Amino acid sequence: MGHDLKARSKINGPDSMRVLGIETSCDETGIAIYDSELGLLGDALYSQIDVHAEYGGVVPELASRDHVRKTLPLIRQVMAESDTDQSQIDGIAYTAGPGLVGALMVGACVGRALAYAWGVPAIGVHHMEGHLLAPMLEDEPPEYPFVALLVSGGHTQLVKVDNLGEYTLLGESLDDAAGEAFDKAAKMLDLDYPGGPRIAALAKKGDRTRFKFPRPMTDRPGLDMSFSGLKTFTLNTVAAHTEADGLPDDQTSADIACAFEEAVVATLVIKCRRALKETGFSTLVIAGGVSANIRLREELEKALKKLGAKVFYARHEFCTDNGAMIAYAGCQRLEAGQSSSQAIKVRPRWPMEELPPLRSAEEI
Ligand code: KG4
Ligand code: ZN
Repeated sequence: MGHDLKARSKINGPDSMRVLGIETSCDETGIAIYDSELGLLGDALYSQIDVHAEYGGVVPELASRDHVRKTLPLIRQVMAESDTDQSQIDGIAYTAGPGLVGALMVGACVGRALAYAWGVPAIGVHHMEGHLLAPMLEDEPPEYPFVALLVSGGHTQLVKVDNLGEYTLLGESLDDAAGEAFDKAAKMLDLDYPGGPRIAALAKKGDRTRFKFPRPMTDRPGLDMSFSGLKTFTLNTVAAHTEADGLPDDQTSADIACAFEEAVVATLVIKCRRALKETGFSTLVIAGGVSANIRLREELEKALKKLGAKVFYARHEFCTDNGAMIAYAGCQRLEAGQSSSQAIKVRPRWPMEELPPLRSAEEI
Protein backbone atom coordinates (compact mmCIF):
# COMPACT_ATOMS: atom_id res chain seq x y z
CA MET A 1 0.00 0.00 0.00
CA GLY A 2 1.15 3.56 -0.61
CA HIS A 3 1.85 6.17 2.04
CA ASP A 4 -0.95 7.68 4.03
CA LEU A 5 -2.18 10.90 2.55
CA LYS A 6 0.21 13.56 3.74
CA ALA A 7 -1.05 16.59 5.59
CA ARG A 8 -2.44 18.89 2.92
CA SER A 9 -0.64 22.12 2.25
CA LYS A 10 -2.45 25.18 3.53
CA ILE A 11 -1.97 26.96 0.23
CA ASN A 12 -4.06 24.36 -1.57
CA GLY A 13 -6.97 24.66 0.81
CA PRO A 14 -7.72 22.05 3.48
CA ASP A 15 -9.95 19.79 1.40
CA SER A 16 -8.53 20.14 -2.05
CA MET A 17 -6.25 17.68 -3.69
CA ARG A 18 -3.54 18.56 -6.19
CA VAL A 19 -2.39 15.80 -8.50
CA LEU A 20 0.50 15.52 -10.93
CA GLY A 21 -0.51 13.48 -14.00
CA ILE A 22 1.97 11.63 -16.21
CA GLU A 23 0.98 10.10 -19.57
CA THR A 24 3.56 8.05 -21.50
CA SER A 25 1.57 5.16 -22.97
CA CYS A 26 2.42 5.70 -26.63
CA ASP A 27 4.05 8.49 -28.62
CA GLU A 28 3.17 11.53 -26.55
CA THR A 29 4.65 12.66 -23.25
CA GLY A 30 1.82 14.46 -21.43
CA ILE A 31 2.18 16.16 -18.05
CA ALA A 32 -0.47 18.11 -16.12
CA ILE A 33 -1.43 19.33 -12.69
CA TYR A 34 -5.08 19.12 -11.67
CA ASP A 35 -6.46 20.60 -8.47
CA SER A 36 -9.80 19.29 -7.25
CA GLU A 37 -10.85 22.78 -6.18
CA LEU A 38 -9.15 25.03 -8.74
CA GLY A 39 -9.34 22.74 -11.77
CA LEU A 40 -6.59 22.29 -14.31
CA LEU A 41 -3.57 24.40 -13.32
CA GLY A 42 -1.22 23.54 -16.15
CA ASP A 43 -0.42 21.02 -18.81
CA ALA A 44 2.22 20.39 -21.43
CA LEU A 45 2.57 17.90 -24.22
CA TYR A 46 5.54 16.74 -26.17
CA SER A 47 4.62 14.85 -29.31
CA GLN A 48 7.06 12.37 -30.80
CA ILE A 49 5.47 12.56 -34.25
CA ASP A 50 8.75 13.67 -35.86
CA VAL A 51 10.62 10.77 -34.25
CA HIS A 52 8.28 8.19 -35.79
CA ALA A 53 7.21 9.93 -39.00
CA GLU A 54 9.84 8.35 -41.23
CA TYR A 55 8.78 4.85 -40.09
CA GLY A 56 5.07 5.41 -40.82
CA GLY A 57 4.06 4.34 -37.31
CA VAL A 58 5.22 4.27 -33.71
CA VAL A 59 8.53 2.46 -33.05
CA PRO A 60 8.20 1.26 -29.42
CA GLU A 61 11.88 1.40 -28.47
CA LEU A 62 12.28 4.93 -29.84
CA ALA A 63 9.12 5.95 -27.96
CA SER A 64 10.49 4.68 -24.63
CA ARG A 65 13.82 6.42 -25.10
CA ASP A 66 12.16 9.70 -25.93
CA HIS A 67 9.88 9.51 -22.88
CA VAL A 68 13.04 9.05 -20.77
CA ARG A 69 14.39 12.29 -22.21
CA LYS A 70 11.21 14.34 -21.92
CA THR A 71 9.29 13.31 -18.80
CA LEU A 72 11.30 15.04 -16.06
CA PRO A 73 11.94 18.31 -17.96
CA LEU A 74 8.21 18.53 -18.76
CA ILE A 75 7.29 17.92 -15.11
CA ARG A 76 9.64 20.74 -14.06
CA GLN A 77 8.12 22.99 -16.71
CA VAL A 78 4.50 22.34 -15.72
CA MET A 79 5.23 22.73 -12.02
CA ALA A 80 6.94 26.07 -12.65
CA GLU A 81 4.17 27.29 -14.98
CA SER A 82 1.47 26.39 -12.48
CA ASP A 83 3.34 27.85 -9.50
CA THR A 84 3.33 24.52 -7.77
CA ASP A 85 6.23 23.27 -5.70
CA GLN A 86 6.60 19.70 -4.59
CA SER A 87 5.18 20.33 -1.12
CA GLN A 88 1.84 21.22 -2.76
CA ILE A 89 1.51 17.95 -4.63
CA ASP A 90 -0.88 15.61 -2.80
CA GLY A 91 -0.72 12.67 -5.18
CA ILE A 92 0.62 11.36 -8.46
CA ALA A 93 -1.23 9.69 -11.31
CA TYR A 94 0.57 7.85 -14.10
CA THR A 95 -0.80 5.82 -16.99
CA ALA A 96 -0.32 2.14 -16.10
CA GLY A 97 -1.96 0.69 -19.24
CA PRO A 98 -3.02 -0.18 -21.82
CA GLY A 99 -0.15 0.84 -24.08
CA LEU A 100 3.42 0.05 -25.07
CA VAL A 101 5.14 -1.71 -22.19
CA GLY A 102 8.44 0.20 -22.35
CA ALA A 103 6.72 3.55 -22.75
CA LEU A 104 4.38 2.81 -19.83
CA MET A 105 7.34 1.78 -17.68
CA VAL A 106 8.93 5.22 -18.04
CA GLY A 107 5.90 7.06 -16.64
CA ALA A 108 5.33 4.42 -13.95
CA CYS A 109 8.97 4.54 -12.79
CA VAL A 110 9.03 8.34 -12.67
CA GLY A 111 5.62 8.52 -10.99
CA ARG A 112 6.42 5.94 -8.34
CA ALA A 113 9.88 7.38 -7.65
CA LEU A 114 8.52 10.91 -7.17
CA ALA A 115 5.70 9.62 -4.97
CA TYR A 116 8.20 7.80 -2.78
CA ALA A 117 10.51 10.79 -2.58
CA TRP A 118 7.69 13.25 -1.82
CA GLY A 119 5.82 10.95 0.54
CA VAL A 120 2.52 11.06 -1.34
CA PRO A 121 0.25 8.31 -2.70
CA ALA A 122 0.34 7.39 -6.38
CA ILE A 123 -2.08 5.60 -8.63
CA GLY A 124 -1.81 3.77 -11.94
CA VAL A 125 -4.50 5.15 -14.25
CA HIS A 126 -6.22 3.26 -17.07
CA HIS A 127 -5.49 5.19 -20.27
CA MET A 128 -8.98 4.68 -21.71
CA GLU A 129 -10.62 5.77 -18.46
CA GLY A 130 -8.51 8.89 -18.81
CA HIS A 131 -9.90 9.46 -22.32
CA LEU A 132 -13.43 8.72 -21.18
CA LEU A 133 -13.20 11.32 -18.40
CA ALA A 134 -11.48 14.02 -20.47
CA PRO A 135 -14.83 15.78 -21.26
CA MET A 136 -15.21 16.29 -17.48
CA LEU A 137 -12.54 18.99 -17.78
CA GLU A 138 -14.88 21.15 -19.87
CA ASP A 139 -17.13 23.91 -18.50
CA GLU A 140 -20.27 21.88 -19.17
CA PRO A 141 -19.33 18.32 -18.27
CA PRO A 142 -21.64 15.38 -18.99
CA GLU A 143 -23.59 13.80 -16.15
CA TYR A 144 -23.71 10.10 -15.34
CA PRO A 145 -25.02 7.75 -16.59
CA PHE A 146 -23.98 7.88 -20.23
CA VAL A 147 -22.83 5.83 -23.19
CA ALA A 148 -19.20 6.39 -24.15
CA LEU A 149 -17.79 5.85 -27.61
CA LEU A 150 -14.05 5.37 -27.15
CA VAL A 151 -12.31 5.82 -30.48
CA SER A 152 -8.54 5.94 -30.47
CA GLY A 153 -5.61 4.44 -32.33
CA GLY A 154 -5.85 1.23 -30.33
CA HIS A 155 -9.50 1.00 -29.24
CA THR A 156 -13.00 1.30 -30.62
CA GLN A 157 -15.49 0.53 -27.89
CA LEU A 158 -18.99 1.40 -26.83
CA VAL A 159 -19.21 1.43 -23.05
CA LYS A 160 -22.15 1.83 -20.69
CA VAL A 161 -20.97 4.16 -17.95
CA ASP A 162 -23.18 4.08 -14.86
CA ASN A 163 -20.69 6.03 -12.81
CA LEU A 164 -16.96 6.58 -12.58
CA GLY A 165 -15.43 3.11 -12.54
CA GLU A 166 -18.71 1.34 -13.35
CA TYR A 167 -18.25 0.23 -16.91
CA THR A 168 -19.99 -2.38 -19.08
CA LEU A 169 -18.65 -3.08 -22.54
CA LEU A 170 -21.54 -2.93 -25.02
CA GLY A 171 -19.61 -3.54 -28.21
CA GLU A 172 -16.21 -3.12 -29.81
CA SER A 173 -14.30 -3.45 -33.03
CA LEU A 174 -13.55 -7.06 -33.81
CA ASP A 175 -10.45 -6.07 -35.76
CA ASP A 176 -8.88 -2.66 -36.46
CA ALA A 177 -9.61 0.32 -34.26
CA ALA A 178 -11.17 3.31 -36.03
CA GLY A 179 -8.01 5.41 -35.56
CA GLU A 180 -5.88 2.57 -36.87
CA ALA A 181 -8.12 2.36 -39.95
CA PHE A 182 -7.65 6.11 -40.52
CA ASP A 183 -3.88 5.66 -40.19
CA LYS A 184 -3.82 2.76 -42.64
CA ALA A 185 -6.05 4.50 -45.19
CA ALA A 186 -3.73 7.51 -44.96
CA LYS A 187 -0.73 5.33 -45.69
CA MET A 188 -2.45 4.03 -48.85
CA LEU A 189 -2.78 7.63 -50.01
CA ASP A 190 0.84 8.36 -49.09
CA LEU A 191 -0.15 10.67 -46.23
CA ASP A 192 2.02 10.95 -43.13
CA TYR A 193 1.38 9.43 -39.70
CA PRO A 194 -0.88 10.03 -37.79
CA GLY A 195 -3.31 9.69 -40.64
CA GLY A 196 -6.59 10.74 -39.00
CA PRO A 197 -6.16 14.50 -39.15
CA ARG A 198 -4.59 14.23 -42.63
CA ILE A 199 -7.43 12.17 -44.07
CA ALA A 200 -9.88 14.65 -42.50
CA ALA A 201 -8.08 17.62 -44.09
CA LEU A 202 -7.93 15.96 -47.51
CA ALA A 203 -11.57 14.83 -47.28
CA LYS A 204 -12.67 18.47 -47.11
CA LYS A 205 -11.67 18.82 -50.76
CA GLY A 206 -13.43 15.61 -51.72
CA ASP A 207 -16.71 15.03 -53.54
CA ARG A 208 -19.04 13.21 -51.17
CA THR A 209 -21.08 11.66 -53.96
CA ARG A 210 -18.36 10.09 -56.10
CA PHE A 211 -17.67 6.89 -54.11
CA LYS A 212 -19.86 5.07 -51.65
CA PHE A 213 -17.89 2.87 -49.25
CA PRO A 214 -19.53 0.11 -47.18
CA ARG A 215 -20.82 0.70 -43.64
CA PRO A 216 -19.56 -2.52 -42.05
CA MET A 217 -21.77 -4.55 -39.71
CA THR A 218 -24.58 -2.01 -39.66
CA ASP A 219 -27.11 -4.26 -41.38
CA ARG A 220 -27.17 -6.78 -38.54
CA PRO A 221 -28.10 -6.24 -34.92
CA GLY A 222 -25.52 -5.71 -32.21
CA LEU A 223 -22.96 -3.14 -31.23
CA ASP A 224 -19.76 -4.75 -32.42
CA MET A 225 -17.87 -3.14 -35.26
CA SER A 226 -15.30 -4.07 -37.89
CA PHE A 227 -13.07 -1.83 -39.96
CA SER A 228 -10.75 -4.21 -41.76
CA GLY A 229 -13.14 -4.81 -44.69
CA LEU A 230 -13.41 -1.06 -45.18
CA LYS A 231 -9.63 -0.93 -45.24
CA THR A 232 -9.53 -3.56 -48.02
CA PHE A 233 -12.26 -1.70 -49.93
CA THR A 234 -10.18 1.47 -49.68
CA LEU A 235 -7.06 -0.34 -50.86
CA ASN A 236 -8.92 -1.76 -53.87
CA THR A 237 -10.35 1.65 -54.77
CA VAL A 238 -6.90 3.24 -54.55
CA ALA A 239 -5.44 0.45 -56.71
CA ALA A 240 -8.20 0.81 -59.32
CA HIS A 241 -7.41 4.52 -59.73
CA THR A 242 -3.64 4.45 -59.44
CA GLU A 243 -1.78 6.29 -62.17
CA ALA A 244 1.76 6.06 -63.47
CA ASP A 245 3.24 7.87 -60.46
CA GLY A 246 1.84 5.18 -58.16
CA LEU A 247 -1.04 7.21 -56.72
CA PRO A 248 -4.53 8.34 -57.80
CA ASP A 249 -4.75 11.95 -59.01
CA ASP A 250 -5.22 14.62 -56.33
CA GLN A 251 -8.99 14.95 -56.75
CA THR A 252 -9.50 11.17 -56.69
CA SER A 253 -7.36 10.91 -53.54
CA ALA A 254 -9.53 13.56 -51.90
CA ASP A 255 -12.70 11.76 -53.04
CA ILE A 256 -11.42 8.48 -51.58
CA ALA A 257 -10.46 10.17 -48.28
CA CYS A 258 -13.92 11.68 -48.16
CA ALA A 259 -15.71 8.39 -48.87
CA PHE A 260 -13.60 6.62 -46.27
CA GLU A 261 -14.26 9.24 -43.59
CA GLU A 262 -18.00 9.25 -44.38
CA ALA A 263 -18.13 5.45 -44.06
CA VAL A 264 -16.37 5.39 -40.67
CA VAL A 265 -18.48 8.28 -39.37
CA ALA A 266 -21.77 6.80 -40.61
CA THR A 267 -20.92 3.42 -39.06
CA LEU A 268 -20.07 4.98 -35.70
CA VAL A 269 -23.22 7.12 -35.75
CA ILE A 270 -25.45 4.09 -36.40
CA LYS A 271 -23.81 2.16 -33.55
CA CYS A 272 -24.02 5.09 -31.12
CA ARG A 273 -27.69 5.62 -31.88
CA ARG A 274 -28.32 1.94 -31.32
CA ALA A 275 -26.41 1.97 -27.99
CA LEU A 276 -28.46 4.91 -26.73
CA LYS A 277 -31.68 3.18 -27.68
CA GLU A 278 -30.57 -0.04 -26.01
CA THR A 279 -29.58 1.62 -22.73
CA GLY A 280 -32.32 4.23 -22.74
CA PHE A 281 -29.65 6.86 -21.94
CA SER A 282 -29.76 10.31 -23.48
CA THR A 283 -26.11 11.31 -23.06
CA LEU A 284 -23.27 10.22 -25.30
CA VAL A 285 -19.61 10.95 -24.61
CA ILE A 286 -17.09 10.53 -27.39
CA ALA A 287 -13.44 10.33 -26.44
CA GLY A 288 -10.05 9.37 -27.83
CA GLY A 289 -8.13 10.68 -30.83
CA VAL A 290 -10.88 10.10 -33.41
CA SER A 291 -13.33 12.18 -31.33
CA ALA A 292 -11.37 15.18 -32.64
CA ASN A 293 -12.89 14.44 -36.05
CA ILE A 294 -15.23 17.30 -37.02
CA ARG A 295 -17.45 15.23 -39.33
CA LEU A 296 -18.00 12.69 -36.56
CA ARG A 297 -19.00 15.45 -34.14
CA GLU A 298 -21.32 17.10 -36.67
CA GLU A 299 -23.05 13.92 -37.72
CA LEU A 300 -23.50 12.72 -34.14
CA GLU A 301 -24.92 16.07 -33.10
CA LYS A 302 -27.41 15.89 -35.97
CA ALA A 303 -28.43 12.29 -35.30
CA LEU A 304 -28.70 12.69 -31.53
CA LYS A 305 -30.78 15.83 -31.76
CA LYS A 306 -33.47 13.76 -33.44
CA LEU A 307 -33.36 11.36 -30.47
CA GLY A 308 -33.48 14.16 -27.92
CA ALA A 309 -30.00 13.14 -26.79
CA LYS A 310 -26.79 15.13 -26.44
CA VAL A 311 -23.18 14.49 -27.31
CA PHE A 312 -20.21 15.63 -25.20
CA TYR A 313 -16.53 15.68 -26.10
CA ALA A 314 -13.28 17.17 -24.87
CA ARG A 315 -11.65 20.28 -26.33
CA HIS A 316 -9.58 19.41 -29.38
CA GLU A 317 -6.20 19.03 -27.63
CA PHE A 318 -7.63 16.74 -24.96
CA CYS A 319 -9.14 14.29 -27.49
CA THR A 320 -5.73 12.85 -28.28
CA ASP A 321 -3.31 11.70 -25.58
CA ASN A 322 -2.57 14.22 -22.84
CA GLY A 323 -1.58 14.47 -19.18
CA ALA A 324 -4.67 16.40 -18.08
CA MET A 325 -7.03 13.44 -18.43
CA ILE A 326 -4.65 11.26 -16.40
CA ALA A 327 -4.30 13.88 -13.65
CA TYR A 328 -8.11 14.26 -13.53
CA ALA A 329 -8.86 10.50 -13.48
CA GLY A 330 -6.14 9.88 -10.88
CA CYS A 331 -7.42 12.74 -8.73
CA GLN A 332 -10.93 11.25 -8.60
CA ARG A 333 -9.63 7.89 -7.45
CA LEU A 334 -7.01 9.26 -5.03
CA GLU A 335 -9.65 11.49 -3.47
CA ALA A 336 -11.82 8.42 -2.96
CA GLY A 337 -8.92 6.88 -1.02
CA GLN A 338 -7.69 4.53 -3.75
CA SER A 339 -4.02 4.12 -4.65
CA SER A 340 -1.67 1.54 -6.17
CA SER A 341 1.01 -0.46 -4.37
CA GLN A 342 4.62 0.67 -4.50
CA ALA A 343 5.52 -2.08 -6.94
CA ILE A 344 6.17 -0.62 -10.38
CA LYS A 345 3.53 -2.43 -12.35
CA VAL A 346 2.12 -1.73 -15.79
CA ARG A 347 -0.56 -3.55 -17.79
CA PRO A 348 -0.07 -3.32 -21.57
CA ARG A 349 -3.44 -5.10 -21.90
CA TRP A 350 -6.03 -4.10 -19.34
CA PRO A 351 -9.80 -4.50 -19.84
CA MET A 352 -11.52 -1.40 -18.52
CA GLU A 353 -14.27 -3.47 -16.94
CA GLU A 354 -11.72 -4.75 -14.40
CA LEU A 355 -11.46 -1.29 -12.85
CA PRO A 356 -13.04 -0.99 -9.40
CA PRO A 357 -15.90 1.43 -8.82
CA LEU A 358 -15.03 4.66 -7.07
CA ARG A 359 -16.54 3.63 -3.76
CA SER A 360 -14.47 0.45 -3.56
CA ALA A 361 -11.35 0.46 -1.37
CA GLU A 362 -9.68 -1.98 -3.74
CA GLU A 363 -6.10 -1.45 -4.85
CA ILE A 364 -5.66 -0.67 -8.52
O1 KG4 B 1 -6.20 8.71 -28.40
P1 KG4 B 1 -5.03 8.82 -29.29
O2 KG4 B 1 -4.22 10.08 -29.26
O3 KG4 B 1 -4.00 7.69 -29.01
C1 KG4 B 1 -4.37 6.40 -28.65
O4 KG4 B 1 -4.65 6.18 -27.45
O5 KG4 B 1 -4.40 5.57 -29.59
O6 KG4 B 1 -5.57 8.53 -30.76
C2 KG4 B 1 -4.75 8.59 -31.86
C3 KG4 B 1 -5.56 8.22 -33.08
C4 KG4 B 1 -4.73 8.07 -34.34
O7 KG4 B 1 -5.09 6.87 -34.98
C5 KG4 B 1 -5.14 9.29 -35.17
O8 KG4 B 1 -5.04 9.07 -36.55
C6 KG4 B 1 -6.56 9.50 -34.73
O9 KG4 B 1 -6.55 9.24 -33.34
N1 KG4 B 1 -7.03 10.89 -34.97
C7 KG4 B 1 -8.03 11.20 -35.83
C8 KG4 B 1 -8.14 12.63 -35.81
N2 KG4 B 1 -7.21 13.11 -34.95
C9 KG4 B 1 -6.54 12.03 -34.44
N3 KG4 B 1 -8.83 10.43 -36.60
C10 KG4 B 1 -9.74 11.06 -37.36
N4 KG4 B 1 -9.90 12.39 -37.42
C11 KG4 B 1 -9.13 13.21 -36.67
N5 KG4 B 1 -9.31 14.54 -36.74
ZN1 ZN C 1 -5.04 7.51 -26.23
